[in-house]
Amino acid sequence: MVSMEKVVRVSDIPEFVGETVQIRGWVHLKREHGKHMLFLVVRDGTGFIQVVLRDNAKGYFDVFDSYREAAVIITGKVLEDARSPYGYEIRAESVEVVSPSRPTIEEEIQPDSSVDLLLDKRHLVIRGERASAVLRYTDKLLRYLREFCVEKGLTEVVPPIITKAACEGGATLFPVKYFDDTAYLTQSSQLYLEAVLPALGNVYCIQKSFRAERHRTRRHLLEYYHFEPELAFIDFEDLIRFAEDNIIYIVKRTLEEDYKILELFGVEDLEVPRRPFKRMTYAEALDFFKSRGVNIEPGMDLEESKERMLVDHFGEPLFLTDFPAEQKAFYFKRKGPDESIAMSMDLLVPTVGEIIGGGMREDDYDKIILRLKEMNANLEDYRWYTDFRRYGSVPHGGYGLGIERTVEWILHLEHIRDATLFPRLVNRLVP
Ligand code: 4AD
Repeated sequence: MVSMEKVVRVSDIPEFVGETVQIRGWVHLKREHGKHMLFLVVRDGTGFIQVVLRDNAKGYFDVFDSYREAAVIITGKVLEDARSPYGYEIRAESVEVVSPSRPTIEEEIQPDSSVDLLLDKRHLVIRGERASAVLRYTDKLLRYLREFCVEKGLTEVVPPIITKAACEGGATLFPVKYFDDTAYLTQSSQLYLEAVLPALGNVYCIQKSFRAERHRTRRHLLEYYHFEPELAFIDFEDLIRFAEDNIIYIVKRTLEEDYKILELFGVEDLEVPRRPFKRMTYAEALDFFKSRGVNIEPGMDLEESKERMLVDHFGEPLFLTDFPAEQKAFYFKRKGPDESIAMSMDLLVPTVGEIIGGGMREDDYDKIILRLKEMNANLEDYRWYTDFRRYGSVPHGGYGLGIERTVEWILHLEHIRDATLFPRLVNRLVP
């Protein structure tokens, strides 16, 4: 397999027009073209390229008699060619089959196979052009989030995933047997981020979060990837502005760099949102529904379909703020004469609904202890968390942004499972 040819990545092919190069990858498609020509599309993970095999001189046609997905090493000359769907092609001079592919992948899955079969064969589905483009875009989005945080001066930290602390209430905890004790998979890293603020200043993490939710919706996973920034010495308006900057940044970078992926998904309407984003309080949302003949009892949650109705009406990102405190987690700072309103903000986007949830945190020691007692928490399990309120407490807040939901929104995907490498769903643990 050792060769003197220049090994290049498919994404770099345009730089090598007129040169003889070697590419290493997998046969993505095979198309015969008369007796004397065979067209392959070869994929190496960085891109796709057309390869032309001419005049069966070296028996290539027989080699490629049956298989797509064979692993190959191809050496040939790079030509610019407008007829190729990729703008370039390689005229093969030698072809080495590193390993065949049997049975052919068509025997395993077809584009119209059932959702269950496609999930069973997800490891093969991700080789496809669209599925791999989603994964590639996710990589870009993670970079943009990190770039944004570097620009804003936040430090990345890595909190534990196995924890004793329930951040978002007991109902959606995944228990973990921890020798003789019971621990949980984290629902959010927020509490740890709060505890780190006095050590590092503003921080963030990108970590898995887990929710034992029985929802079967197009935006719920049991295990999802969670971007969480946490900021000290801020007020609610600062937090909203930071979240606006965040969304503007990732959309702007996506439009600058990922236009080919957007084109593949037919996304033509993505625009950098203008600030200030639209805002509505929970009370205003109830009025909105009332004026359309939909009565929602004050205090009731806005279910997913309502959220979408609201944001699709405006057709742009929308902050929903000031939820009733009893609907929100214990850590929210409260306001109102009777402290009945949480200083909360959710960002809703068209077609998906909520992609960001967060707010200001209760920074008063006595109040946070009271809230923990109200939910019968073992105070000792939260000592590391409440101590921030004893040793130099400051107003602070943050939020969580769901990575898969954001990808679902930007690429106009139909379901969150398509924004996930190997999704964890209610009845799905494999692959
Ligand atoms: O609104 P959530 O539950 O907020 C928190 O967890 C806060 N502790 C975060 C913080 O303030 N640091 O979740 C935040 C976001 C949601 O807006 C959504 O995008 C995503 O996490 N999310 C999910 N994504 C996929 N599947 C699920 N089951 C999700 N649950 C929440």
